[in-house]
Amino acid sequence: MNGRVLLVEDNADFVANLTEILTDLGYQVRAAASCAAALKEGRGWVDVALVDFRLPDGAGTQLAESLKQDNPDCEVVLLTGYASVEAAAEAVRAGVWDFLAKPCPTPDVLATLAKAARHVRLDDAAQVAERLASVGTLTAGLSHEIRNPLNAAGLQLAVLERRLRKLEASSQPLLLEPLLLVRDEIRRLETILRDFLQFARPAPARLVPFSMQSLLSGISALLTEQAGRRQVALELSLPTLPEVKGDADQLKQVFMNLAINAIDASPDGGLVRISSSMESGGGLRVSIDDSGTGVPEENRERIFEPFFSTKPQGSGLGLPICRAIITQHFGRIEVHQSALGGARFDVTLPPG
Ligand SMILES: Nc1ncnc2c1ncn2[C@@H]1O[C@H](COP(=O)(O)OP(=O)(O)OP(=O)(O)O)[C@@H](O)[C@H]1O
Ligand SMILES: [Mg+2]
Repeated sequence: MNGRVLLVEDNADFVANLTEILTDLGYQVRAAASCAAALKEGRGWVDVALVDFRLPDGAGTQLAESLKQDNPDCEVVLLTGYASVEAAAEAVRAGVWDFLAKPCPTPDVLATLAKAARHVRLDDAAQVAERLASVGTLTAGLSHEIRNPLNAAGLQLAVLERRLRKLEASSQPLLLEPLLLVRDEIRRLETILRDFLQFARPAPARLVPFSMQSLLSGISALLTEQAGRRQVALELSLPTLPEVKGDADQLKQVFMNLAINAIDASPDGGLVRISSSMESGGGLRVSIDDSGTGVPEENRERIFEPFFSTKPQGSGLGLPICRAIITQHFGRIEVHQSALGGARFDVTLPPG
């Protein structure tokens, strides 16, 4: 879901047309032709409101203020008949996110709404992070408690396996098969716990200068075999880059996660490209492209939520950990459609 949009405008054609387009794009849409109707429709529901400046029963700026009182996280985009300085000033005072001068082309309206919706979702992500931080201590403690008996079980299982392998060869497979399954499940639980602990209690990033180029070459070397098993080609495209500041261990984990996801998503014989470049503002961007199936638009935020996974064995913690680490570096991580056909994950780090 892209977001919940409330259209407050008394031009029925404009509303019908925009409703159709927005619905196709995956938004939920409600419409209202007056301030009173807008407050009723929008209460506790709206992410982004597109509000006409002049409404039959009041001013759009006043409505904007009331909507924001009812829905503190929502953003309002104002439609004005004329783009005057006064209108802009009033709009800013009312806390609107942006304003558009009528008549405005549909693509502009869509771009502005998408930007506002993204902003609202970012706030959502921050809220999720906060909530997780408060339950983090509790769950981290619980994970520790689970870890000890799990370790004990793993050790006993190893004893069992050793004893079993001393038995007569013919009876071994029958007993070994379930034992190895249990062993694999225990390993999986251990990995989930390790990842979860890291997510719940991330180590603070230690920012020191390092070479991104050698970090990325190292990752590619580490993954050559894994990629080769599926005949996925790993391509590196790294210009000479200045040193950046960051926690190299943590960033290595980010790019490993992203590259493994890319290999996972690739068809046999596919291509994964790791590239990096300097941003115009002096920041550094690393992109990981793949030729897989990509991430459908409706999942592009959800994949960063803990435990969201479409893989039978996935923990769904890879990307939330990546995001937590990148946030600690004051950077950004985003997913797009790749020119290679699949997904492209862009990580941007600010100038050191
Ligand atoms: N390159 C990609 N192409 C397509 N989908 C992707 C890609 N990377 C991630 N995803 C989607 O995002 C989901 C979440 O990824 P994440 O790394 O958080 O967990 P996971 O890979 O499922 O599990 P884990 O990383 O714990 O093994 C994946 O299950 C997949 O659906
Ligand atoms: Mg993953």
